[in-house]
Amino acid sequence: MESSCDETAAAVVSFYETERSILSSAIASQVEIHALYGGVVPEIAGRAHIEAISGLVYRALEEAGISADELDAVAVTSEPGLIGALLVAVNFAKAFAFAHRLPLIPVNHIRGHVAAAYFAYPDLKAPFFAMVASGGHTSLIDVRSPVEFVTVGKTRDDAIGEAFDKVARVLGMPYPGGAEIDRLASRGDPDAIAFPSAALRGSLDFSFSGLKTAVINYVHGARQRGALPELPAGGGERADKAVADIAASFTAAVVRAVISHLEKAHARFGYKTLVAAGGVAANSHLRSALTVFCEKQEIRLCLPPLSLCGDNAAMIGAQGYYEFMAGHLAGSDLNARPTVRGAD
Ligand code: KG4
Ligand code: ZN
Repeated sequence: MESSCDETAAAVVSFYETERSILSSAIASQVEIHALYGGVVPEIAGRAHIEAISGLVYRALEEAGISADELDAVAVTSEPGLIGALLVAVNFAKAFAFAHRLPLIPVNHIRGHVAAAYFAYPDLKAPFFAMVASGGHTSLIDVRSPVEFVTVGKTRDDAIGEAFDKVARVLGMPYPGGAEIDRLASRGDPDAIAFPSAALRGSLDFSFSGLKTAVINYVHGARQRGALPELPAGGGERADKAVADIAASFTAAVVRAVISHLEKAHARFGYKTLVAAGGVAANSHLRSALTVFCEKQEIRLCLPPLSLCGDNAAMIGAQGYYEFMAGHLAGSDLNARPTVRGAD
């Protein structure tokens, strides 16, 4: 079960010997509700989760064709995320586990994003290196075992997806605009505007806030000069080339920062496998750059399918399996933790 941000999700997964399968995966997105406000409103998210969670859990069971008593355990996202949102699935999972006498497994959401890769790559085994790039998180992680995560790089301010969404917003696109920036960038010139790097020197950390502000300042300046038309109704498809150039140059700056840190991390850790996960791993430009980088360095690249990049509960079930095998269980006093140090 998952309710850390603006998607309520429930899934039934099966891990057995070499089998890794998703029997059902139900997701109720709140994107349309939050789009009215240009971003996630925490209290509204919590209220929407509480309406959705019960129906979703029973739908997931029905679609999987099994009863609650046939389950071996219940996994739930307990950290990090919006506190009022997290508490909904945590509390539901506790009651569900108690009622059906099932072990309860708390799962870190960022670990969950990484674990999405096990479905697409059933032979994937730690150690490997992972990059989680989502609306709330940007982490570079040395995954030493399925339950031993060492965060070696992170954002010091905005998450990577947050930067995409804010740039999309200033260009006039509805929340969340990451996917639309992706499409628009394909029509623009990535070298049109030189935006600053988001890769901090001397560490594997990022700062996306400066890059985002540079784009916003550029947009405001260009508008004042009358050099940038407003986005036409109907969105990016018909946007002016000048707008596409901004999307392309911003995307190129993000991709450059990610690849430069992955290169540095490769020199330091010598990883042979890279897992890229999270909503922003759906970005087509980032995917191509990762593919080229990994081919050149002879690294095995594991990119989950788009359906598993965004928030879902199957990924929580996958990580839940490994936490369960490691004996990481919780009691009825399980609480949610809104902020934690990455996936560690
Ligand atoms: O992993 P996710 O569903 O939720 C969080 O855990 O945050 O990620 C959502 C983020 C949003 O910021 C969204 O704009 C971004 O992923 N996103 C993209 C693309 N598709 C989704 N960003 C860039 N390019 C995309 N194609
Ligand atoms: Zn997420």
